[in-house]
Amino acid sequence: MERPSRLFHSVVVGGQSLRNRIVLPPLTRSRATDDGVPTPLMEEYYHQRAGAGLVISEGVVIAPQATAYARVPGLYSPEQVAAWRPVVAAAKRDGAAVYAQLWHVGRQSHSSVQPDGLPPKAPSAIPITGYQYRSPQGRIPYEVPRELTTAEIADVIHAYGAAARNAVRAEFDGVELHAANGYLVDQFLNDGSNRRADQYGGSLENRTRFLREVIGEMSRHLPADRIGVRLSPSSDWMDAHGSDKRRLYSTVIRQLNDLGIAYLHLVEPEIAGSTTVESPADSIPTAELAALFDGVVIVTGGHDQASAERLLAEGTADLVGFGRLFIANPDLPQRFRAGAPLEPLRPAGIYGGGHEGYTDYPSLAISGI
Ligand code: PHB
Repeated sequence: MERPSRLFHSVVVGGQSLRNRIVLPPLTRSRATDDGVPTPLMEEYYHQRAGAGLVISEGVVIAPQATAYARVPGLYSPEQVAAWRPVVAAAKRDGAAVYAQLWHVGRQSHSSVQPDGLPPKAPSAIPITGYQYRSPQGRIPYEVPRELTTAEIADVIHAYGAAARNAVRAEFDGVELHAANGYLVDQFLNDGSNRRADQYGGSLENRTRFLREVIGEMSRHLPADRIGVRLSPSSDWMDAHGSDKRRLYSTVIRQLNDLGIAYLHLVEPEIAGSTTVESPADSIPTAELAALFDGVVIVTGGHDQASAERLLAEGTADLVGFGRLFIANPDLPQRFRAGAPLEPLRPAGIYGGGHEGYTDYPSLAISGI
């Protein structure tokens, strides 16, 4: 007998009706070319996972300066736009909405991958000290970033808009702004990484300005209700330290209410970037933050089918993301529906490489679904 499942109730996001509430969340897989151009292998990967109601791409960098690692795709060149089209079409094959996650890593980059060979730029010249950079030669210290000038901030905001326009050209349905995990937007939000004296630093109103201006710029190219925002309010991964996180993220969420965005995407407190940790003692309950938002809420981080059903039943989430389960189970929605066993995640091939650990996880031939 089939259990009643809210995961398979349809839901409307950005005016599109999705046939389930299962999300492929953004996952760095590093299978683009060295120039950040999507590959046919990526087309196969997204095609395999097209059963999600909402497919969010891996982080896509908005400019060459925005990247931290090799083989991360971009959306700043005509070649990249052209190469995304078949990938997006593959992800849409079963009717999923497909969003591009737009990404700038700020101080999490390194001179070795910067076009000018100099340290990356960030809100303030404050290095990450609690973590090390993942270089091809192993872990090395992060550098002291260069502080963005006010004029350079305008250029970065413009680049977000250009990437959003390119996402539309590549036929993505929408974009997700990566404002989580201590990357550039989060570096502006938190006072541990933002000591600026101009209109982008100091008060909460000033530290949240960059986020609002980026959304404003992107919404010149697509409707605001096709722009999602991802936050990780309880994470201090990559030194995302803030003296006022509860007030900060509550303020951000209230501001987002006024912008009419597609969705708020919350990362659970147990997630530190790509790893699972003990929930920090001062973590902010996801339900508390979700309740502040007027629109669609996606929650991601360590969930399985049962815990996802609980999130939906409690009203904390409208959709739920499953990252690690989706890497190892390309047909995850079908498996959930059939109560079929799940394949375990293998460590090989999570980041980079070829098809091994990427497109070689089996789909079940489940009939009658
Ligand atoms: C990662 O590459 O491990 C990664 C990328 C983006 C995130 C978190 C982790 O937001």
